[in-house]
Amino acid sequence: MTTALDLCLLGVLFAQQTVPSAGNPIFSSVLPSTGFFGWYGTPNTTESITEHSPTAEHSPTKKHELTFCDTGTLQSPIDINVATCKTKDFPPVTFLDDILFNSEIQYENNCETVKITLIDKTLKPKVQGGALAPGSTYIVDNIHFHWGTKNTEGCEHTIAGKKFPMEAHMVLYKNTSKDFEDALHKKEVAVLGFMFILQAHPNEALHAMVANVTEILQPHTTFKTSGKSLVFLKDYIGSGFYTYTGSLTTHGCAEGVLWTIFKKDIPIGKTQLIIFHDVIGEDAEELQNWRAIKPYNNREVYQSTF
Ligand SMILES: *[C@@H]1O[C@H](CO)[C@@H](O)[C@H](O)[C@H]1NC(C)=O
Ligand SMILES: *[C@@H]1O[C@H](CO)[C@@H](O)[C@H](O)[C@H]1NC(C)=O
Ligand SMILES: *[C@@H]1O[C@H](CO)[C@@H](O)[C@H](O)[C@H]1NC(C)=O
Repeated sequence: MTTALDLCLLGVLFAQQTVPSAGNPIFSSVLPSTGFFGWYGTPNTTESITEHSPTAEHSPTKKHELTFCDTGTLQSPIDINVATCKTKDFPPVTFLDDILFNSEIQYENNCETVKITLIDKTLKPKVQGGALAPGSTYIVDNIHFHWGTKNTEGCEHTIAGKKFPMEAHMVLYKNTSKDFEDALHKKEVAVLGFMFILQAHPNEALHAMVANVTEILQPHTTFKTSGKSLVFLKDYIGSGFYTYTGSLTTHGCAEGVLWTIFKKDIPIGKTQLIIFHDVIGEDAEELQNWRAIKPYNNREVYQSTF
């Protein structure tokens, strides 16, 4: 069985083969490319084209497999055009239990992101409400972060053109799917996006989470701790939100992903954001891992009434 982590590793391997001279493959995400290499390069073996890497002008021509990252028309992230969002009467998103906060979790620097997962895979933290399928329960698969190298960028979604320094993604799958990968095929994946906003002083509520991240600054390291460091999320998950259907922003960019972007920003102190900027990826470079916005292509974006 292939797990989400296996898919991640596949992505890393592919990126390394594809852009040998582009340095950290994650840097591809901020280049003006449609994402034909790097983190977005999980191979689609049905078709292949020949491309030059934009950062490796003089490198030999490489074969590249097309994925939705290249060909998709319903891609993420997007700029949320607040002015044209239709309003819908959604309930708030809620946690149905405290499993995430009461269990042992693992922080991992997988050289693509800081990824948080439950250690006991049989535990299934449940979420419902919002734009999630009514009457359905969703399971938390992982939480991970997207950031940049400076305070002025790092988020994936932008809101009315506004950029944020970091965005957290809580990846969910519908409980009618066996696991994340099964849900990807059935288009039963949903992602909750939390935007961080910079403030001068540290946010006490993020203290434990940031302290935990300092334990995994080095590439391919993990740190096991209690899920208590994530309790701050409870103050944001019930806030108003924008929602639309898009794609994963990494690893093949599969479409049919239901997005929820919360309106209530999470304040993060400058010294706390620096910890994320200090996360080291492959090639001993500081990691940055955000994908640039993609076209709307006539999609509807809705917002909650609250
Ligand atoms: C692979 O590419 C083909 C042709 O572009 C497309 O029809 C198919 O849906 C893609 N599959 C995946 C998993 O990306
Ligand atoms: C999935 O969630 C629904 C709604 O909460 C519940 O009725 C159903 O029993 C759950 N199914 C599984 C397989 O857990
Ligand atoms: C990690 O977070 C937990 C709370 O979940 C906290 O008790 C612990 O001190 C943190 N670990 C480090 C090394 O800061």
